[in-house]
Amino acid sequence: MTERGAGKGERPIDRGRHVGVVGLAVMGENLSMNIARHGFPVAVFNRTAARTDEFLAERGGAAGIVGLHDIADFVNSLERPRRIIMMVKAGPPVDAVIAELLPHLEPGDILVDGGNSFFLDTARRGDELAAAGFNYVGMGVSGGEEGALWGPSLMPGGPKEAYDRLEPMLTAIAAKTDAGPCVTYIGPGGSGHYVKMVHNGIEYADMQLIAETYDIMRHALGLTAQEMSDVFRRWNQGRLASYLIEVTAAVLAERDPESGDPLVDQILDAAEQKGTGRWTSVSAMDLGSPAPTIDAAVTARVMSSMRESRLQASKILTGPDASGLPNGLTRDALLAAQEDALYFSKISAYAQGMALMRAASDAYAWNLNLAEIARIWKGGCIIRAALLDQIRAAFSGPEQPANLMLAPNVAPELNAAAPGARTATMAARALGLPCPAMSASLDYFDSLRAERLPANLIQAQRDYFGAHTYRRLDRDGVFHTHWTPFE
Ligand code: 6PG
Repeated sequence: MTERGAGKGERPIDRGRHVGVVGLAVMGENLSMNIARHGFPVAVFNRTAARTDEFLAERGGAAGIVGLHDIADFVNSLERPRRIIMMVKAGPPVDAVIAELLPHLEPGDILVDGGNSFFLDTARRGDELAAAGFNYVGMGVSGGEEGALWGPSLMPGGPKEAYDRLEPMLTAIAAKTDAGPCVTYIGPGGSGHYVKMVHNGIEYADMQLIAETYDIMRHALGLTAQEMSDVFRRWNQGRLASYLIEVTAAVLAERDPESGDPLVDQILDAAEQKGTGRWTSVSAMDLGSPAPTIDAAVTARVMSSMRESRLQASKILTGPDASGLPNGLTRDALLAAQEDALYFSKISAYAQGMALMRAASDAYAWNLNLAEIARIWKGGCIIRAALLDQIRAAFSGPEQPANLMLAPNVAPELNAAAPGARTATMAARALGLPCPAMSASLDYFDSLRAERLPANLIQAQRDYFGAHTYRRLDRDGVFHTHWTPFE
C-alpha cells in the first residue's frame, strides 16, 4: 500500500493521519489546506483520481497532505476511531460516498458531512449509521472558499462524543473573533445542518434587502455604481457593518475590463439558488414560526428568474415613473431612511431566524443555545455582522426574550429605526419599485406589535362558509353562528 505526496513519489503509508477528507471540489480542497496548516495530518480521497493528483501537485503535497486512489487505502491511512469529513454535493452524492466508505469502516468511526445537506436527510443518515455503530455528524460550514481556507464558521450537530473527538481540530481551523472560535456543539441529529439552513435563509434575506436598497438608490437617487459603493462603504463603518455590506461595496466598485463600465450593470438580473433558502421557508411554514422576510427573499429570486415573463409584462402593465425622488423627500432624507430601513429589516430577518431555530429546537428536542449560535456567526460566515454582538447579548441572560425584537437591548433600536423603514418602503411603493423583503420585515414588526389583528374577520368568514367555529374575547368556549346571508 502506498500513498502519494507531491514531489515525494510513492512511500509507505503511515496510518496515522488525523483526518480524512473526501471530495476535492473548492470547499474540500480549501478545508484540507486549512486543517493541514494547523498541523493535523490530512489524507484526501476524490472519486476522480486525477483530481487528487492535481491537487497534490498544485498545493496539497507541499502542505504535507497525502492522497490515496483507493478508498480502502484511504480509510486505512487514518487514526482510529477514524474521522472522515465528506465535502461533496448535497443529496444523492452523500449517500453514495457513505455507501462506498461503509464496508471499510469500523464501529466508533466518525463520518462528518460538511456540505449543505437537508437536515432531515442528515437525521436519517445519522440514525442509520448509529444503528450500525458509527457516529454521524452533520456540520454546517459557512464562509465559501476563503472561509474554508482561512477560518469558516462551523455548525456541527450529531452525537456529542463524536463532537468531542473532533473538537481540537475544529477549534483550530474555525474563524476566530474576540468572542472565541466560531464553532460550538450545536446539538443532536440534524441540528447542525438545520442551523446552517437558517443561516442561509438569513443570508438570502440580507442579500435581498441590500438589493432592494440598491434599487431605490439607483432609481430614486440616480446614484452611480461608484457612488453607491461609497455609500455602502460608509455604512459599513457603522451599525450595518457586515460582510455582505462589504461585499456589496466591493461589487459595485468593480469595472468590466472590456467596456470599463460597472460590471454589475452587465450581469443578468436573474438570481439562482441551490435550495437552502427555500428549505428555511418550508420549515418555517411547517413549524408555524413565520419567516416572511426569508419567504420574500426566496420568492424574489424566483420572480427574478422569470425573465421572459417580466420582459413581456413590462410592455403591458404600467406603473409610476421610477426615477426621481417621491414627493416631499430630499435626497439626504431618503438615504438616511434607507440606512434605517436596512438596519431595521436586518434585525427583523434575524428575529425571524432566531425564532425559527427556537421553534425547531422545541419541536425536535435539540436544546439549541441561541447565544452560542449568534457567537459562532460573528466570524467566518457569510452573515457575519456587528449586529450579532447585540443578538448574542439578547439571548445570553437567564431570561430569554420571547422574540429578539422584544429584547431590552434591541426593542429601542427597532422603534427608533421603524420610521425610516416606513419612509423607505413608502418611497419604493410610490415609485413602483418592488421591495418585498423590506415590506415583509416591517409587516412582521407591525403584526407582532399589533394588539388586535383583523383575524377575527377571518374566523367569522371560516365559520360562515365552513362552520369552522370561533372563540370569543368576552367568554370561554367554542362558538358557531347561523350567519344571515346577504340578500
Ligand atoms: C455559506 C453559503 C454557501 C451557499 C452559497 C450559495 O454559508 O458559505 O451559504 O453555503 O451555498 O451562499 O447559496 P445559493 O446558491 O442557494 O445562493
